[in-house]
Amino acid sequence: MIRNGRIVTAADDFHGDIGIRGGRIAVLGQALPRGHREIDAEGRLVTPGGVDAHCHIDEPPYLNARLADDFRSASRSAACGGTTTFVPFINQLKGETLAAARDDYMRRAAPSLIDYGFHMILKADEPERIRTELPALLEAGLRSVKVFMTYDGYMMDDAQIMEIMEMVRAVDGIVMVHAENGHCAHHAVSKLHAQGRDGLSYFPETSPQAIEREAVHRAITLAELTDTRVMIVHVSGDEAMEQIRWSRARGHRTLAETCPQYLLDLEPHLHSDEWETAKYICSPPVRESARAGDLWRGLVQGDLDLVSSDHCPYRFEGDDGKKAFGEARLGQVPPGLPGLETRLPLLYQEGVATGRLTPQRFVELTATRPAQLYGLYPRKGSLMPGADADVVIWETGAPRPIRHADLHDACDYTPYEGHGVTAWPACTLSRGEVIWDAATGHVSDAHGRGQFIPGRRGEP
Ligand code: URP
Ligand code: ZN
Ligand code: ZN
Repeated sequence: MIRNGRIVTAADDFHGDIGIRGGRIAVLGQALPRGHREIDAEGRLVTPGGVDAHCHIDEPPYLNARLADDFRSASRSAACGGTTTFVPFINQLKGETLAAARDDYMRRAAPSLIDYGFHMILKADEPERIRTELPALLEAGLRSVKVFMTYDGYMMDDAQIMEIMEMVRAVDGIVMVHAENGHCAHHAVSKLHAQGRDGLSYFPETSPQAIEREAVHRAITLAELTDTRVMIVHVSGDEAMEQIRWSRARGHRTLAETCPQYLLDLEPHLHSDEWETAKYICSPPVRESARAGDLWRGLVQGDLDLVSSDHCPYRFEGDDGKKAFGEARLGQVPPGLPGLETRLPLLYQEGVATGRLTPQRFVELTATRPAQLYGLYPRKGSLMPGADADVVIWETGAPRPIRHADLHDACDYTPYEGHGVTAWPACTLSRGEVIWDAATGHVSDAHGRGQFIPGRRGEP
């Protein structure tokens, strides 16, 4: 029994108790009978466990760099940050069948502490394999794939994306699109190299907002032509968001995601050519416009559906980290930031504590909506009777700085070092089991208890 909490869901905000039986929510109410075990949540916020619908775990190396987290460390870190379900990517090795890649990731995920689903990244260089193998995977339960309009080896042309959209539409799935025009970005990089302006401070010039805006417009158009649900992932600024608004005004159900790195003001960290800048390099780049608050308005108004971490943890130091190439030059730093454990505290701080978001909207963006869109609701992302008892009890108080030393991932830095937050998960329950207890600093070592949760078809 979780007793006397301030229970916040996407719809409600009330004081009461949550009774848990057999790993599920059995009852919500007030003055409920004593449980076998009582957890005192007096004066504390209680929310559904977070659902992180975009994170990269144990994927193949990129630009010689290897992701720091496997499913063991990533799930531990997620649990301590209040996330009880994540949806990472299956990323196929060269020559592997798509089914073999899926089976491989099911094995890799076996040590997870928390529950998980999967999206699949599709690469550009094997169109025939996608044509022949993807329909069977979708029939077998895969609900979401990610395609790229940039990155060597990943960048697809419009026809290939449309073909994939048509296949995914058949199961009412979602095509996640990384929307940056890779041709324009490559051109910008070559030009900067030729001019000798290839220090890391030039990174924002390799992909200004126009490059994202054009790609978003194209992705939306391809989705319209194929009548497919499209999710524009990691929306970085107002220009991309304008396109999303435009398509919705035309009656299209374009979906959109952003991430904490685009909501916080990280852009000043991109002004130096020193290695330190690599800690903030992700694609699309973090924008100066974060200061204008446009994305925040998008979250409030509903232009954006969810906030994911896009956790992509390359270590900074070491021969498999951000510095793997040994030169702080454009094109030599793998893009991606760690953020699984800090997603919820940062969004609470910058959203709820500042008054920009209601607590309900915070829950909707970080748990309920991702669960709904990827077919995990109402088992995940809610606190209704019958749902899995995935619950976070929050500690709130004076600001305390984020320190990488306090985090639980396998990366060696956080881009948010020193950022003050006033809320932190005091206790995380997954299917009724306490997997993180901040009071004792104990994280469950029951690795392998996490379950694969198949995505249901369509939206609820
Ligand atoms: O920079 C990023 N976002 N890295 C992760 C891979 C991706 O494109 O999502
Ligand atoms: Zn991406
Ligand atoms: Zn990503």
